[in-house]
Amino acid sequence: MSIVESLRAEHDALFRAAGRWRNGEMSDEELVGFLEEMSRVHFRDEEQILYPAMRGFFPTSELNAYEQAHREVAERLAAARTVLEEGRPVSDRLNRIVDDVKAHARSEEEALFPAAEGKLGAERLAELQRRRQQFARATSGG
Ligand SMILES: [Fe+2]
Ligand SMILES: [Fe+2]
Repeated sequence: MSIVESLRAEHDALFRAAGRWRNGEMSDEELVGFLEEMSRVHFRDEEQILYPAMRGFFPTSELNAYEQAHREVAERLAAARTVLEEGRPVSDRLNRIVDDVKAHARSEEEALFPAAEGKLGAERLAELQRRRQQFARATSGG
């Protein structure tokens, strides 16, 4: 598997989770938990593995904008977590976060991922995925 395939599968999981939440099949608490985990793992691995590999192959300003988008989501998610724990309504806030995270993921799929597949090649993308898995084992804490 390539790192792009694995990141794409996580975007698909995001789109499904967002759909379930909007259908009322997932609670606010579950959605916040899902997004926190995505922020902790998916965003981190993009920033630590894929984006650095793409420097020189993709506009730096766009990579920086992706990182900035991650930071903003993490901050807004932390605020949503506070609101949730105070028992105040959080749906509007979560709706906006979900829309923005989905737009961010789509932008990566339309611009960054095809560029990665075109510039890095299958072997390198598979190597980056192995690094991702090692990283996951090293940081899982058992
Ligand atoms: Fe991202
Ligand atoms: Fe992503």
